[in-house]
Amino acid sequence: MPETLNVGLLGCGGMAKALAKALGRVPRARISRVCDVVEDAARTAGVEFTVPWGTSPEEVLADPAVGAVIVATPNFTHADLVGQAAQAGKHIFCEKPMALTVADCDRMIAVTRSAGVHLCIGHVLRYLPVFDHMKRLIDGGIIGEPFAVRVSRLGGWGERAAWRQRRDLSGGPLFEINAHEIDYMRYILGEPVSVYASGTQAVVKQADFEDTIFLTVRYAGGGHGVLHSSIGAARGGYTGEIQGTEGTISFTNWPSRIDWKRFDGTAGSVQDAELHVPDPHERELAHLVEAALDGVAPPIGGADGRAAVAVAEAAGRSMQTGEVVRLG
Ligand SMILES: NC(=O)c1ccc[n+]([C@@H]2O[C@H](COP(=O)([O-])OP(=O)(O)OC[C@H]3O[C@@H](n4cnc5c(N)ncnc54)[C@H](O)[C@@H]3O)[C@@H](O)[C@H]2O)c1
Repeated sequence: MPETLNVGLLGCGGMAKALAKALGRVPRARISRVCDVVEDAARTAGVEFTVPWGTSPEEVLADPAVGAVIVATPNFTHADLVGQAAQAGKHIFCEKPMALTVADCDRMIAVTRSAGVHLCIGHVLRYLPVFDHMKRLIDGGIIGEPFAVRVSRLGGWGERAAWRQRRDLSGGPLFEINAHEIDYMRYILGEPVSVYASGTQAVVKQADFEDTIFLTVRYAGGGHGVLHSSIGAARGGYTGEIQGTEGTISFTNWPSRIDWKRFDGTAGSVQDAELHVPDPHERELAHLVEAALDGVAPPIGGADGRAAVAVAEAAGRSMQTGEVVRLG
């Protein structure tokens, strides 16, 4: 096994560059070449990271020195690029959402399995300070058995790339934004079994999807999760609660703060400055390096990416039909 993992960057937009910078701080890995279908974006990134650049993903995938790739391109391209990368024998870090359909996720899982390469999915929210700390508190038993999660993530709609304004290219908010919260609720409550969602397009008329969505998910263990998602809110906010059999955690992510209280009367709070966690992107990319160089299965893989897509896809069907959608 090589000492250093050479990583090809597919896509050189905002997220790709943030990941490339983070990878620069991860031991045993380096960006070795970059590509973007837009020449300017590729050249700029190539100059910034002082590596060869180009406009063809195929060129990156054909390079035998490249051991892994980061797929940080628009959502509708993930499935094909992951498939091509796997067939070229590269380990893969793919940004969320994994894909836009469960069928594509299944194909991605199958192709990576048969190629014998690891697939990591970028559900980085798990590693953000508030969310990471809440999981640690829950694992430590502070609220007993969690059974209900409510998340409210509200924001506005500024300048967005064209692909983000189209459902067929981005999936809409539940894929593009809330894949994170959908993944986190599953992280806390387990496997989802049914989904109900309703939404409206009240404010953001330039996109072709709902700007405000209420999503309810039921979990196999009997838990319930509710998400209020909006990109059409004049006052933003990111708050929620996790209820357990012995206590409740409340949180806000902007700014970071956690408050908890138990039925036995004990209570506590944790604030921004006390929340020390490793850099979330370094942490998720370290999993790629460990997978590629050490053969360690990534903790957030294809099954996790697929589960989030399954909920988002079912929510779309529920919004169309007005019915509860059961997950297979
Ligand atoms: N984890 C997070 O918190 C987070 C945050 C932002 C974005 N993302 C995800 O990262 C991905 C990229 O988002 P972004 O904000 O960087 O988008 P962006 O529009 O800024 O950049 C995407 C880039 O990909 C390029 N591209 C398009 N098709 C390509 C192809 N086939 N091959 C190579 N390059 C191609 C585009 O030209 C563009 O430069 C999306 O999947 C998005 O959901 C994740």
